[in-house]
Amino acid sequence: MALFFRDHSCSVAVILITLVQIFYITYTYTFVDFIPTTDESVILKEIRPLRPVVLKHRPNDGYIVNLTLINKYCEPELYDVDYFDTFNIQDCLNFLDEQEDDYLIENPNSKITCSPDSVPMLFHVYWRGKINDKIALMIKSFLYTQPLDCSLLNVWLDQNQEIDFTQNSHIQPLLKFSPNNFRLRRWNLTEQLSYDSIYDGWEEKINPKIPTVGYSDLVRFVLLYRYGGMYVDADVLFLRDMRPVYHLDQEFAYRWSFWLNYNTAILRLNAKSETVRTVIESAMQHNMNFHPFQIKYYLVKKRIVVKQDLDKYLYMMPTTVFDPLWLKVDLSLSKQVTKPNINYFHDTYKSNVKEFFRGAFTYHWHNQWDSSIPYHSWFGILQKAYDEFIDGQSPNMYNEYINEFHEDIF
Ligand SMILES: *[C@@H]1O[C@H](CO)[C@@H](O)[C@H](O)[C@H]1NC(C)=O
Ligand SMILES: *[C@@H]1O[C@H](CO)[C@@H](O)[C@H](O)[C@H]1NC(C)=O
Repeated sequence: MALFFRDHSCSVAVILITLVQIFYITYTYTFVDFIPTTDESVILKEIRPLRPVVLKHRPNDGYIVNLTLINKYCEPELYDVDYFDTFNIQDCLNFLDEQEDDYLIENPNSKITCSPDSVPMLFHVYWRGKINDKIALMIKSFLYTQPLDCSLLNVWLDQNQEIDFTQNSHIQPLLKFSPNNFRLRRWNLTEQLSYDSIYDGWEEKINPKIPTVGYSDLVRFVLLYRYGGMYVDADVLFLRDMRPVYHLDQEFAYRWSFWLNYNTAILRLNAKSETVRTVIESAMQHNMNFHPFQIKYYLVKKRIVVKQDLDKYLYMMPTTVFDPLWLKVDLSLSKQVTKPNINYFHDTYKSNVKEFFRGAFTYHWHNQWDSSIPYHSWFGILQKAYDEFIDGQSPNMYNEYINEFHEDIF
């Protein structure tokens, strides 16, 4: 399904609404935390709903992040708590949000354009069980942020007995985006591991009692070895267009908080690449152990590993770029003021915040599976914004509407 930039030139009504929008955007920019209650604001609200996410521009085709600059602002040199009196997480996020002109650079090696004819960015997520509100939220965040002309999300379903997805109220409203933008696919371990001799003998090696988390550690490498692309954990929300990192020449994962280990909640690998082959071959020699803490030893066959060694094989991205709250949680940096100024992962179920880690590419909410999504929480606000976009009532953060609703609106 294609998206379009709204054409502002077609009628007086559009111009009027645009003026109101501009006023409203300026207004929300200026009084971010001020919730207006005057009559005027009530009228404005009727014209257009409160925008939870302030507008952004899409990156230009063929632009990627400058890793040197990203590291300068987002990768702390030291990880002792004192150092964080000077290294500020919000500085990294402000940089990512405000300095795109500096750190987005033309990819010197390839000019990838986004069109329905181009090879799409391919994303994968793995989900075990029935489709619920959390995995639906993840899919919605994908639809809301990614350039749909050149993005495809594979949702790999395991132990899912659902036959008729139109009966599931969480996924039903999204089915119109399938198969163009996302696909529900059945995960079949036997089928996945039978197709390449790299897995020979897996039946004897795999631990039949492997827990879900460990199992998904395996799934991501198996999928990327075969199909390539980017694996994203189900408890991750897309916050912005991923092209500037997806199209980097480096394969990558991100740093495990302050440890020198990979977190593979975001994992970018090319199909059959040397890196993914090395990891799978090594894991096959270690009873199919794909635990993230093993990965660095599989890649760099040394006991003492430094980041520079790892980056050559699988670039270790700064934590904050994909997981903006983690360092704050793990190092108890509650003195550091972030936007939003929350301290724990479950705060996203409580806090009513309009601006949420602007600048970060994704938000990883670390397994808060059992919490419901309260209407006034940040997740609730975001869910509403996603739903309005999907219904064609509101634009996304890039001021785009869903194509099929074009005629209906004006
Ligand atoms: C990336 O940023 C660094 C630091 O500002 C700069 O020296 C370098 O030339 C930039 N790289 C590219 C490819 O623009
Ligand atoms: C999984 O794949 C194997 C091998 O292709 C096939 O024999 C089996 O029937 C599949 N299982 C299911 C549940 O589809």
